[in-house]
Amino acid sequence: MNILLIGSGGREHALARSLSASPLCSKLFIAPGNPGTSQAGTNVALDVTDHQAVIDFCRVMAIGFVVVGPEAPLVAGLVDDLTAAGIKAFGPSKAAAQLEGSKAFTKDLCAEFNIPTAAYRRFTDAETAKTYVRSYGVPIVVKADGLAAGKGVVVATSFEEAESAIDMMIGGGLGTAGAEVVIEAFLDGEEASFFALCDGTHAIPFGTAQDHKRVFDGDEGPNTGGMGAYSPAAILTPDLQARVMREIIEPTLKGMASRGTPYKGILYAGLMLTKDGPQLIEYNARLGDPETQVLLPRLNSDLVEVLLAAVEGKLNSVSLSWSDKAALTVVMAAKGYPGTVEKGSEIRGFDKAEALDDVIVFHAGTKQDGDKIVANGGRVLNVTALGRTIADAQAKAYEAVSKIDWPEGFCRRDIGWRAVARERG
Ligand code: AMP
Ligand code: GLY
Repeated sequence: MNILLIGSGGREHALARSLSASPLCSKLFIAPGNPGTSQAGTNVALDVTDHQAVIDFCRVMAIGFVVVGPEAPLVAGLVDDLTAAGIKAFGPSKAAAQLEGSKAFTKDLCAEFNIPTAAYRRFTDAETAKTYVRSYGVPIVVKADGLAAGKGVVVATSFEEAESAIDMMIGGGLGTAGAEVVIEAFLDGEEASFFALCDGTHAIPFGTAQDHKRVFDGDEGPNTGGMGAYSPAAILTPDLQARVMREIIEPTLKGMASRGTPYKGILYAGLMLTKDGPQLIEYNARLGDPETQVLLPRLNSDLVEVLLAAVEGKLNSVSLSWSDKAALTVVMAAKGYPGTVEKGSEIRGFDKAEALDDVIVFHAGTKQDGDKIVANGGRVLNVTALGRTIADAQAKAYEAVSKIDWPEGFCRRDIGWRAVARERG
């Protein structure tokens, strides 16, 4: 069948590579895609916010399956509109994508179905929120309810910090996303990501990962979309994974179904592993970026087959096969990221990096400029390697990074440090 993939980042390059490898995939189109996805299929300049244009494209190109990468089109209801037009599409409906689109929605669901998460309150009035913070104490966490591109969470260690976050959010600093805030208890522990593939009724584990959100080595500096990741996350032992399925994922699926908004798609749980067990920090309604770049290279199963099974409600008959290898990805970003960056600098050395065994260089923010590849965003490349252990994958990934000739870029030098320290015991 012909497949259309929506998105343009490193996650979509990884998805495009795995989708195109499936015997079920005839032609793959990516809208809008990037120079990396064009190695796996045909990029098309579609305006994905124009749902009718996407539907028309699917009809003309006889697309049998649409896979949506990022959250914005999910929250905008693209899957609903495609489904209504009789086109199979992977990802949650608009109503189900509220698990990512609204933090207040998710916290209320957790409260209703007894899902472990930080205690919370919701506020639309800044003064009431501040009075609550004063009575509660610090540390405390202030979150914008809506999608805020990674800028909507402030872990406040002082009243001043909490209050200025409340003023900024409710005052419109994040647009409508901050009109309501969720204020929640600070959770102490190590973070890990757990992915589940869901078909509305059944969920199966879809791998684990850990990422590095801070821009500088040693987890210092401002938050970013993620500077690197690795999979699996050994801290999520088989016992803990079973507990996450039982206490967090399955009650969520039951709750969503009982509300008449069954969840189909990837459910990405950001977890805090506290001394009282795993607690949900947040849900995402999609695969992670850059986590996908370390999950999919480890998946031996046919991606198209399993995503179709999820759409068709048939996951109870699917069991996934994973490589024994570990994967690690290093994000190469343009200097200045996560602040303003310059676009247009040339990147060389792809061939040398990819000539190494078990190395894949995913394009995240690049552009084709004649016969050159140039930087076109903040996070630009995801240099990924597979290895026997995380340490082995880390060594290979950094060897590949050294082959990339891009003076205007930088990366963290310590991706995977927690897992490598754990492997060394
Ligand atoms: P989120 O966008 O909800 O994943 O939050 C971004 C980051 O803020 C998380 O990855 C955590 O590092 C931190 N965070 C969010 N909520 C809490 C919490 N309740 N306690 C401690 N840290 C948190
Ligand atoms: N890497 C974090 C995310 O995809 O949300």
